[in-house]
Amino acid sequence: MIFKLFTISYFFLLANSYANNLALPCAGCHGPSGNSPGDTIPSINNLEKEYFINAFQEYKSGKRSNYLMRIIANGYSDEEIKILADFYDEKK
Ligand code: HEC
Repeated sequence: MIFKLFTISYFFLLANSYANNLALPCAGCHGPSGNSPGDTIPSINNLEKEYFINAFQEYKSGKRSNYLMRIIANGYSDEEIKILADFYDEKK
């Protein structure tokens, strides 16, 4: 039982730090918790998950033509985008 609890929390920690690492480059522009300082860069901790994923796909496909976010979005797989969407959803 103790061992089971230990492994569960260990995996939780691992998953959590994986999300933190994925989100590290975003913090420079969007703030550490997605709450962007200033008006030029939108906050991303207040977005619905579906909207977040859709926005990322649109940067990737070029439907949204922001130069910076297009380069960034291209560096993340669909699975990683979902992890990021969950990560910022928890920071609401
Ligand atoms: C170099 C600065 C920079 C970095 C780094 C950056 N972003 Fe952005 N992000 C922007 C800017 C500027 C916009 C607004 C672009 C536009 O007008 O479409 C934006 C827009 C977005 C949007 C759309 C917001 C909306 O309201 O539609 C999302 C979602 C987003 N970024 C997520 C991320 C994530 C997640 C990361 C890290 C993987 C990240 N960004 C890294 C600058 C950055």
